[in-house]
Amino acid sequence: MSDPPAPETVHQPVLLNEVLEALNPQAGSIILDGTVGAAGHARALAERVGPGGRIIGLDRDPRMLELAAQRTRELPVVLFHQPYDAFETVLDELEISQIDGLLLDLGLSSDQLAWPERGFSFRQDAPLDMRFDPTSGEPTAADLLARLPAAELADLFFQYGEERFSRKIARRIVEARAETPIRTTAELADLIYGAIGRRPRGGIDPATRVFQALRIAVNRELERLESILDHAPARIRPGGRIAVISFHSLEDRIVKWRFRHNSCWKILTRKPMVPTEDEASTNPRSRSAKLRVAERCPDLTSQSPVLT
Ligand SMILES: C[S@@+](CC[C@H](N)C(=O)[O-])C[C@H]1O[C@@H](n2cnc3c(N)ncnc32)[C@H](O)[C@@H]1O
Repeated sequence: MSDPPAPETVHQPVLLNEVLEALNPQAGSIILDGTVGAAGHARALAERVGPGGRIIGLDRDPRMLELAAQRTRELPVVLFHQPYDAFETVLDELEISQIDGLLLDLGLSSDQLAWPERGFSFRQDAPLDMRFDPTSGEPTAADLLARLPAAELADLFFQYGEERFSRKIARRIVEARAETPIRTTAELADLIYGAIGRRPRGGIDPATRVFQALRIAVNRELERLESILDHAPARIRPGGRIAVISFHSLEDRIVKWRFRHNSCWKILTRKPMVPTEDEASTNPRSRSAKLRVAERCPDLTSQSPVLT
């Protein structure tokens, strides 16, 4: 009898061939996928490393991990419900000191965007949650909107969303919440449209930047990215590689800066790799993707001392 088909995912892995080329997995390699999602990349990596190798997949979202587990049966993939910045704890548990490659495919998956109850999308009315890990007990987007003073909300929208009307929107939110709590995506989107005097008319929705900013803040996305980039060199073997796909300039700036200013990395992508026209047209989500790749330099301490 043939195997049942892998469960449905609406997510298409971005820059898949480029990631395979960048990480160059060999039979027996150990690769950590810090954002395993629906395992689009992990499955392809697992085929390459074969039964003697291993893909270690992490995700904060238990529902994504269920999907990944169903889609990686029979493959050398182990999954952990952990944020990627806790990757060292996972490696210690597996008694692995160094890995051959590390992949981060940042942001959220198309599956999460399509699950209305998660509150990531303003296209469907839903509670303002936005946590990648709804079991974490951390504050939701609604909690932040209820608690933060106007000045902090404005800074958040400006810094994480690069939103020009950040102060106007923050003021409008503070006025509205004095009347009634802001609980749903549609309520928030309406407030944003009212504050900036513009409703969606095709093209980019005027609420996009504020939704992005809230998601970044709720999940502490930028802090987590900085943390893993700072700790990765110690756990990638010399000659091993790191590949990071980012979807907005805040993330890309962090990756670029960290690669450039840490002498442990040899940068392999002077300019980031971007999707081909073909990929961009078949997978619109890939359009803003940028892939940066670096190789772990040999350990200076393990080299022979220079005798002069
Ligand atoms: C773009 S998707 C990954 C898609 C995956 N590469 C694929 O091809 O199916 C990003 C995933 O990262 C997860 N995620 C976001 N931040 C995370 C973090 N700090 N630690 C672990 N997982 C995270 C999200 O829950 C989501 O499932």
